[in-house]
Amino acid sequence: MSRPGTALVTGASAGIGAALAREFAAHGHDVVLVARREERLRALADELETGGVTATPIAMDLDTATAAMDLYDEVAARGLDIDILVNNVGVGTYGPFADSDLDAERTQLRLNVVLPVELTRLFLDELTGGGRVLNVGSVAGFQPGPGLSTYYASKAYVNSFTEAIAEELRGDVAVTLVCPGPVDTEFQGRAGMGDSAVGAVLSTTPDAVAEAAYEGLVAGETVVVPSRAMRAVDLLGRIAPRPVVRRVAAWVNSDR
Ligand SMILES: NC(=O)c1ccc[n+]([C@@H]2O[C@H](COP(=O)([O-])OP(=O)(O)OC[C@H]3O[C@@H](n4cnc5c(N)ncnc54)[C@H](OP(=O)(O)O)[C@@H]3O)[C@@H](O)[C@H]2O)c1
Repeated sequence: MSRPGTALVTGASAGIGAALAREFAAHGHDVVLVARREERLRALADELETGGVTATPIAMDLDTATAAMDLYDEVAARGLDIDILVNNVGVGTYGPFADSDLDAERTQLRLNVVLPVELTRLFLDELTGGGRVLNVGSVAGFQPGPGLSTYYASKAYVNSFTEAIAEELRGDVAVTLVCPGPVDTEFQGRAGMGDSAVGAVLSTTPDAVAEAAYEGLVAGETVVVPSRAMRAVDLLGRIAPRPVVRRVAAWVNSDR
């Protein structure tokens, strides 16, 4: 990147989002930090500003029908110019779909699917001509996931959407999709599940995901799968017969 631009990171108060914010700041980018827990955002902003960048916390619930527009307006009202949009926020709903709670499903759809589409569309004009988009998808989005059916499907949307617009916008806006495997964050607790036995073995850290994502973004890569083990899992999932993939995913998700 010729000059470190300003990166807006959604879901920046914890997990992968906080690690991404630290990674961008470590490379000299100013950052805009968005999530609900204001104290966490302020503490992170103070920490990052000791490194010489400007960090702006914006405390906002993104689980509303107007969240994307509200955030876009708030950024404009503060006079911030965004060069890199990082669509990171996301949640999971765990358990049999027949037992699912519709409010939780709507929240998951809003945060994981609607929000990144709306934010990307709203910020696209100002990203045109050298800006970047980093979307956090998942290896889960490349396969069906019984036990986490709607979460996997939401990530399938993110993965597909991101790869598609990366192609449409090539040469104008650089778009990168990062697809982590299991990462030890607050995600599992929020979803009401533990790590799977397989996940515990393959788990990586938010810092490792952030580092790989940043490197891929700067290199102009379209899809980044952060760990070698997950690249192997992803490859197996593509070559194995689909019924086998479905059953293995059901088994992996059954013991969480
Ligand atoms: N962890 C994994 O195993 C894993 C694997 C692959 C992909 N991912 C993806 O990585 C992304 C980040 O997940 P994570 O693991 O870092 O999760 P996390 O530790 O639970 O962090 C989620 C972040 O989103 C924010 N958030 C949640 N609901 C929000 C709302 N209504 N409004 C605004 N902010 C909200 C949280 O902050 P507040 O609570 O302060 O609002 C927090 O900063 C997600 O897209 C997830 O799907 C995770």
